[in-house]
Amino acid sequence: MTKALFAVSECAPLVKTGGLADVAGALPGALADHGVTVRVLLPGYRTVMGQIGKAATVAGYKDLFGGPAKLLACTIADLDLLILDAPHLYDRDGAIYGDATGADWPDNPERFAALSKVAAMIAADGVDGWMPDVVHGHDWQAGLTPEYMHALGVTTPFVFTIHNIAFHGNADAGKLAALGLDPARFTSEHFEFWGQISALKAGIVGAAKINTVSQTYAEELLTPEFGIGMDGILRARQADLSGIVNGIDIDVWNPATDQNITTYKSAAGKSANKKALRKTFGLGPSDGPLCVLVSRLTEQKGIDLLLDALPTLLERDGQLALLGSGDPKLEIALLEAADRHENLSVKIGYDEALSHRMMAGGDVVLVPSRFEPCGLTQLYGLRYGTLPLVALTGGLADTVINASPAALTRGVATGLQFFPINAQALANAFARLCDLYRDNQTWKTMQRNAMKQPVDWETSAVAYKDIYAGLIEPRP
Ligand code: ADP
Ligand code: GLC
Repeated sequence: MTKALFAVSECAPLVKTGGLADVAGALPGALADHGVTVRVLLPGYRTVMGQIGKAATVAGYKDLFGGPAKLLACTIADLDLLILDAPHLYDRDGAIYGDATGADWPDNPERFAALSKVAAMIAADGVDGWMPDVVHGHDWQAGLTPEYMHALGVTTPFVFTIHNIAFHGNADAGKLAALGLDPARFTSEHFEFWGQISALKAGIVGAAKINTVSQTYAEELLTPEFGIGMDGILRARQADLSGIVNGIDIDVWNPATDQNITTYKSAAGKSANKKALRKTFGLGPSDGPLCVLVSRLTEQKGIDLLLDALPTLLERDGQLALLGSGDPKLEIALLEAADRHENLSVKIGYDEALSHRMMAGGDVVLVPSRFEPCGLTQLYGLRYGTLPLVALTGGLADTVINASPAALTRGVATGLQFFPINAQALANAFARLCDLYRDNQTWKTMQRNAMKQPVDWETSAVAYKDIYAGLIEPRP
């Protein structure tokens, strides 16, 4: 049995802002099937503390970045959790990364340094008599872990997964002492990045192996366009960098058993869900495809491109039901557009159950992202026979088979891709989509193909297991 410690800032079903939580919630179960037991170290945000009930205290810290803290062990949804209960860092109103206005918490460097430091201490001393063979950190929030491991003289291998390079987790150099970092290592070989402390860089430089969440994004990251300043650092670590595509939890996302929907086994069974979805979103009947989009509303997700290209879809009787929240400017622009078009309906908010109903009821799921490390909603779409229309980038390039003439002739297409990633190409894709949708036979073949795609964690869990195995020295 290999023992892995995850250090991660979100984990479904306890706390989620995006796909990172889904990965942290599903990968441990998939690894368990391959002889890897995972304990997930997670901050004890107020919302998490409210869900854990009775938990054993397995460690205590007198002063963890400004206050006392303890480590609680519990099992929820088959996840073996280590919850870092540090009220001065995590027990507050607002969201997990920022306050109600959307501004980052000013002490985020300390909040996630604490997560990283405790991961390092667990690697040093174990917890509960349990000692990890490997520490696996996710995104910048766990990036300082190898720095703290180095300071403690721990040589446990550290694996770092980049879910999104856009977030560097930078802190002012003035925080060196507050974060307990060694000033002698504040250099470009370690975690100094343009005069700041970069948790992301610390993770990349300190990891024995680095991966990201699709093969194409792993290649994109090496370019200035996608590397967002980290491309040079990643090129230097290229030999240790790989791409492992995300899977989804196929028990949670299963149209045959999903409690939120009228269940179905083949795409023919989608119609009751479609009818219900139109009702929920106040959309009338229409001959065109019913598109859905579920997303954080940010620059990354290409919502502005969508707004520009949308007339091409709507003029052809296509419809769009959109659920999302994020950038207030995008929220307002979407709501205004919905006022102008009866075939566009927008719900601002976060609603897990509704997102399932959208996947079941839609004909098409849109993912027009400017960049997308992996993306999960196109995978849900495949599983639910809701064909993805996606930008040709990152994981979207790797998981969707474009309805090109060749793919259609061979009968293997599962969706549509557009490139370059701009409004004109997206509009052209909407025109193609509406033609395809009217070709009933082809559409059905694509739905069948989509629903047959392997979107589970099986292959990727083996890839992670192999990374761990390659790093762990055989015991005498
Ligand atoms: P990212 O992690 O960049 O946000 P992903 O596609 O990997 O993108 O994952 C997003 C996850 O968050 C998916 O599970 C998606 O269904 C969910 N999600 C995003 N916005 C919402 C929302 N408004 N309501 C419900 N689920 C949402
Ligand atoms: C990030 C990426 C997304 C990916 C998710 C989980 O949030 O934006 O593409 O699917 O992490 O790895």
